Amino acid sequence: MRKIMQEKLKVAVLGGTGMVGQRFVSLLDNHPWFEVTTIAASPRSAGKTYAEAIGDRWKMTTPMPEAVKNIIVKDVSDVENVAKDVDFCFSAVDMSKEEIKAIEERYAKTETPVVSNNSAHRWTPDVPMIIPEVNPEHAEIIEAQKKRLGTTNGFIAVKPNCSIQSYAPVLHAWREFEPTKVLVSTYQAISGAGKTFKDWPEMVGNVIPFISGEEEKSEKEPLRIFGHIEGDHIEPATSPLITSQCIRVPVLNGHTATVFVDFKKKPTKEELIKLLVEYKGEPQRLELPSAPKQFIQYLQDDNRPQVALDVDFERGFGISIGRLREDTMFDYKFVGLSHNTVRGAAGGAVLGAELLKAKGYIHKK
Ligand SMILES: NC(=O)c1ccc[n+]([C@@H]2O[C@H](COP(=O)([O-])OP(=O)(O)OC[C@H]3O[C@@H](n4cnc5c(N)ncnc54)[C@H](OP(=O)(O)O)[C@@H]3O)[C@@H](O)[C@H]2O)c1
Repeated sequence: MRKIMQEKLKVAVLGGTGMVGQRFVSLLDNHPWFEVTTIAASPRSAGKTYAEAIGDRWKMTTPMPEAVKNIIVKDVSDVENVAKDVDFCFSAVDMSKEEIKAIEERYAKTETPVVSNNSAHRWTPDVPMIIPEVNPEHAEIIEAQKKRLGTTNGFIAVKPNCSIQSYAPVLHAWREFEPTKVLVSTYQAISGAGKTFKDWPEMVGNVIPFISGEEEKSEKEPLRIFGHIEGDHIEPATSPLITSQCIRVPVLNGHTATVFVDFKKKPTKEELIKLLVEYKGEPQRLELPSAPKQFIQYLQDDNRPQVALDVDFERGFGISIGRLREDTMFDYKFVGLSHNTVRGAAGGAVLGAELLKAKGYIHKK
């Protein structure tokens, strides 16, 4: 029997000319469910074709998809005009937090769901912040949000910061042993700041011990992910306590984290590894198009995970863990690695949108 082709959902990428926007455009090329039909950016790019607006700013290693080259870029602020032809949008604009908050709400109020890569709404109490494998049930808060916004279909959903992706899913996989204290240092790639070595030559051979706002996100966002719905808001969890330092390192793609953990119930190393490699979530059960088959891999060699060898595990949607061993001060320590612009940014949002479509929150207008 011939399979009936489902019509793809039409998508706008807000901030489509930026680093994360380019990643969205690349990941959505030939996507089975979604099709980029609209791209919006600043007034500087509006009115030009996507290829003209990008000029020499293309930062992906794969070529610009043919299907988007001639799309005429719109102005993000021209909300009605951008929203009218699409079923939902991805947001990766770089504006002030207040401007992003306001503009994403304006899109939602046109009955256009927004799946955002930005941090502006991560602490809005009725906006779900989702890692699809970890807290898919937080999507249920969307009903409370729609009530507040006065919408039928429009809402905002966000993904968490790139820095937490190398350890938050791991702590979740180990939740039955109740992690109580976590000390983490992250070694973050320059693409996390929207840069390559060409436009940030000072990073060659350099380390910068400060990333604005990152430590607070690394410590607090996991608690909101591990939280639960209480009435009209997400109530963050109160443990584990997390302390962090976030360092910029001369790496193009891939955030590494070195992590120390204390547990209430101390597990064996074998128990911990088993929980990681057997970890499956809704994306795997629902077989979502971008879902990694194996979400978390454990590498036995002492010199893994390495950025150069492991960052593209499962097309950048998987997480690599290694060097799990007992510690002298904490119960255990390990090293984690994730792709900051795939799992940590655009890819995490695409997987989130697939989850929201599968659960009926995103559909044809
Ligand atoms: N890079 C990462 O890995 C990462 C990870 C997580 C979160 N983020 C967040 O994602 C957002 C985008 O990051 P990025 O690295 O892709 O930044 P980027 O490369 O600087 O791109 C910024 C995008 O926003 C648009 N823009 C800038 N000012 C605007 C305005 N006034 N009105 C409308 N559009 C405007 C730009 O359009 P023009 O091209 O026309 O200027 C461009 O499309 C930021 O909020 C960033 O904090 C980034």
